Amino acid sequence: MTMQSSTVLECHSLSFAYRGGAGAATILNAVDLTLPGGERVAIVGESGSGKSTLLHLAGGLERPSGGTVRVGGRELGALGERERTLLRREQMGIVFQAFHLIPTLTALENVALPLELSGTARGAAARELAHAQLERVGLANKPDRHPEQLSGGEQQRVAIARALVHRPILILADEPTGNLDSRTGDAVFQLLLDQVQDSGAALLMVTHSEALAARLDRTLRMVDGRLLAEATDDR
Ligand SMILES: Nc1ncnc2c1ncn2[C@@H]1O[C@H](COP(=O)(O)OP(=O)(O)OP(=O)(O)O)[C@@H](O)[C@H]1O
Ligand SMILES: [Mg+2]
Repeated sequence: MTMQSSTVLECHSLSFAYRGGAGAATILNAVDLTLPGGERVAIVGESGSGKSTLLHLAGGLERPSGGTVRVGGRELGALGERERTLLRREQMGIVFQAFHLIPTLTALENVALPLELSGTARGAAARELAHAQLERVGLANKPDRHPEQLSGGEQQRVAIARALVHRPILILADEPTGNLDSRTGDAVFQLLLDQVQDSGAALLMVTHSEALAARLDRTLRMVDGRLLAEATDDR
């Protein structure tokens, strides 16, 4: 059961700085962000403005210098390392620009892994669910291929299947089509949107493309570590 109305991600007064050197460099500055269940939000902004940093903080992959992140109502900073990892494995799916599939595992094994890691399903049951998810991204015929035997677009479809197979409430995607040619990228982007919509998960996606951003529910612009709402009059 997905609860469409509940808040999936809540960032409050989030800041991040790298220490050292001549004064700490502020990367994120008092970022507030609330994502209700099922909402799909794009983050745009210039290179170096802090988009990936925000995604890393939201996923608990990095700790904020100040402020809080809540995922499914639980504050990441209040959790221990182990609990935070479990929360990520159970509630989140992450899609990276460079696919990040495990090269020694087949497509099917890559997709089954989040099920095993989160304890959602194991063994034959996990493989069955993974196969159904591969089918949804159009790769039911290539379950036994290793990543190197798949095209870039196919690898990213496997990564999308892997991000969604355990039914997370939040999908984080950092330029998921950035390594694909524009035609393949467009198809993979639409597949991601459709799959996220079907699953009822919320999506926070970084993109350089204003055209892709416009196909989501809302766009936010990162400018020098601050998150600004975009005018949405033209939507
Ligand atoms: N280890 C580090 N020490 C100091 N500054 C860093 C470090 N790693 C990254 N930065 C800086 O943090 C800032 C934000 O980086 P981030 O990766 O979040 O940007 P981005 O908006 O995702 O950029 P891009 O669009 O190029 O991916 C950049 O200015 C970068 O130079
Ligand atoms: Mg980035």
